[in-house]
Amino acid sequence: MYDLYLYDAMSCFSLFKFEVFIRFLRTKLYICNPNSELKNMERFSDLIKNRRSMRKFSDEELTQDEVVTLLKAALMSPSSKRSNCWQFVVVDDKEMLERLSHCKEIGSAFLKDAALAVVVLADPLASDVWIEDASIASLMIQLQAEDLGLGSCWVQIRERYTAEGVPSGEFVHAALDIPLQLQVLSIIAVGHKGMERKPFNEEHLQWEKIHLHKYGAE
Ligand SMILES: Cc1cc2nc3c(=O)[nH]c(=O)nc-3n(C[C@H](O)[C@H](O)[C@H](O)COP(=O)(O)O)c2cc1C
Repeated sequence: MYDLYLYDAMSCFSLFKFEVFIRFLRTKLYICNPNSELKNMERFSDLIKNRRSMRKFSDEELTQDEVVTLLKAALMSPSSKRSNCWQFVVVDDKEMLERLSHCKEIGSAFLKDAALAVVVLADPLASDVWIEDASIASLMIQLQAEDLGLGSCWVQIRERYTAEGVPSGEFVHAALDIPLQLQVLSIIAVGHKGMERKPFNEEHLQWEKIHLHKYGAE
């Protein structure tokens, strides 16, 4: 049965764009497997489409439940060899948020208006792929925020500098008493959305970046 669908799918592919092919395959998989979680998958695809970086926040605080849900998402992040080399500093103190908003020359000012900042740390001695692990955890927090209807934005810390030329990591270490062996990868600003942002426009998807079978093959 799958072979038949694969054959159909391949001929479909020669006629339509890759995007159409993917939709076709998803429909067929759903028919073959009535227990499929297609509905959930569609909600997840909406979530991905709606998540846009939010740099303007309202004054509304987060509930304790919302904060716990965000942190659970971070702690459930996949990590290489399950090393869980990350740690997180959760900041909701307004003075500290203001201080952290100066951690970079540009691209961090909105931290002062966020309800929450999750500072994502990792221990390079605990994992040689700590950047990947901490990046995934950062994104998990962002996706969970979107699922809660909250806005978020990634503030890059690694390899960045303050307006005075101090490495952003050093600045954050000093502000939050972070032990030296931990690196600061990012700060995820979270809060209630202070403006509307359009969902991702699928017209702008760069399908030319997808290569089938071999790089550059037609
Ligand atoms: C690794 C990484 C670092 C980023 N650093 C910053 C940052 O320091 N400041 C900022 O305002 N946005 C930052 N962003 C957000 C990007 O600018 C944003 O994701 C990109 O422009 C696409 O926009 P969208 O998130 O609204 O789809 C970062 C995103 C990533 C993935």
